[in-house]
Amino acid sequence: MLRLAVLGSTGSVGSQTLEVTERFPDEIEVVALVARRASDKLLSQAFRFRPKVVVSYEEPTKDWLSSLPKGTEYVNGDEGLKEAIRMADRVMNAVSGVNGIKPAYMTLKEGKVLLASNKESLICLGDLVRRSRDRIIPVDSEHNALFQILSKVSRDEIRFVYLTASGGPFKDWTIEEMKRATKDQALNHPRWNMGSKITVDSATLMNKGFEMLEAVNLFDLDLDTVKVVIHPQSVVHGIVELKDGTYIMHASRTDMRIPIMHALFYPERKDSPFGRSDPVSLSPVEFEPVDTEKFRSIYLARWAGEMGGAYIPVLVGADEEAVKLFLEEKIGFLDIVDIVEKTLSEVNVPDPESVEEILETIEWAREKVREIYGREYA
Ligand SMILES: NC(=O)c1ccc[n+]([C@@H]2O[C@H](COP(=O)([O-])OP(=O)(O)OC[C@H]3O[C@@H](n4cnc5c(N)ncnc54)[C@H](OP(=O)(O)O)[C@@H]3O)[C@@H](O)[C@H]2O)c1
Repeated sequence: MLRLAVLGSTGSVGSQTLEVTERFPDEIEVVALVARRASDKLLSQAFRFRPKVVVSYEEPTKDWLSSLPKGTEYVNGDEGLKEAIRMADRVMNAVSGVNGIKPAYMTLKEGKVLLASNKESLICLGDLVRRSRDRIIPVDSEHNALFQILSKVSRDEIRFVYLTASGGPFKDWTIEEMKRATKDQALNHPRWNMGSKITVDSATLMNKGFEMLEAVNLFDLDLDTVKVVIHPQSVVHGIVELKDGTYIMHASRTDMRIPIMHALFYPERKDSPFGRSDPVSLSPVEFEPVDTEKFRSIYLARWAGEMGGAYIPVLVGADEEAVKLFLEEKIGFLDIVDIVEKTLSEVNVPDPESVEEILETIEWAREKVREIYGREYA
C-alpha cells in the first residue's frame, strides 16, 4: 500500500490526484491532506479519504475542527506540513506558486519521493533538484512526457528537446489586442482547466519559460538544448529530436490524470480507469513556431537561466507579484511581462545560497515589482 500525502489537495492538480487515488483504493492510502484554507472542500475531502492528518495554514473555526471525522488529526501550518511529509512514502506537491517551494524542499530533505507538479520549486531549488533527481517524478504533462522519453535514450543521442505550448488564448491576437486583454479572457485557457496563476502564466507563455528552466534542472540539459514549439491541440506533450533526424514524440489526451497516474505508480504502468483514446481522436496534430516578439517571456526566462543565481528566484517572484497585480485589475496584460523585465534589469542582490535566501530573494523581487508599479503604473 502506497502512503500518499497530497499537498494543495483542494486545487486543480490536488483534486485530480485524489480522483485517481479513488480508483485504486487497495493500492493507495491518502495519509495526509494539506491546503492553505480550512475550507469546506478540505473538510469534505477529509470525509472522503479519512487521512491520518489534515493541515491548513489558515486557523480553522471551532465548528470546522469539531466536524472532522474520527481518526483524523488536525495540525496547523509548518508543523502539520512536516508531519504530513513524514508519514508518506510519496508526496504530491500540488501547491501553487512560490508557496510550493518550502514543501518541495522539506520533502526532498526528508528523503521522500517527490511527485513534482509545482514548478516554481523545481526552478528555484536547482542544486537540490539536481542532487535528488532519482527521487523526483515530474507531473507537469510536458516533463512527465520527457521523463518517459529520456529514460529510453542516451544523452549523446539527443540534439534538441522540445516543450509543446498550446499558445494560450492569445496565440492569434495582435500585440494591440493583447494590450486590451481582460482578466476573464486571460483566464479562459483553450485546452486546460487549471488554477488562476498558471492559467495567466500560460497566456503570457511565462509558464513555458519556467518549464524550460524546469527541464534543465530535471534532466541535466543545457538551456540551448531546450526549445519551445506551439502545438495548439495539446496532445503531444514532449518531443526529443535525436542526432540522426528522428523525432520521438509523447502523446496522450489532454487530461492531467494521465501524468498524475503515471507518477503515482512509476515504474509500474496501470490500465487507465479513465478510458482510452483512438489516435484518430487525437488528430489533427499541428506545430507552429513561437512568436517571441509577442511572447517575450520566453526570452526573459532564457535571460534569467543564462544569468543564473539570483535572477531565477527574481524571475519567479516578479512574475507572481505581477500576475497578482493583473488579477487585481491594476495593470494590463502586457504589463506583466514588462514589469518582470524591469525587475530583472534592476537585480542587485547576491546569489542565494540556502532556501531561506531564495525566499528572501523572491520577497525582494515582489517588493521591487510593487515599487515599479507605484512609480510607473499606479
Ligand atoms: N493545473 C494544472 O493542470 C497544472 C499542470 C501542470 C503543473 N501545474 C502546477 O501545479 C501547481 C498547482 O497548480 P494548480 O493549478 O493545481 O493550482 P490551484 O488550483 O490554484 O491550487 C493550489 C493549491 O495550493 C494550495 N495552497 C496555496 N498556498 C498554500 C500554502 N501556503 N500551503 C499549502 N497549500 C497551499 C491551495 O489551497 P486553498 O484551496 O486552500 O487555497 C490549493 O489547494 C502549480 O505550481 C502549477 O504550476 C498545474
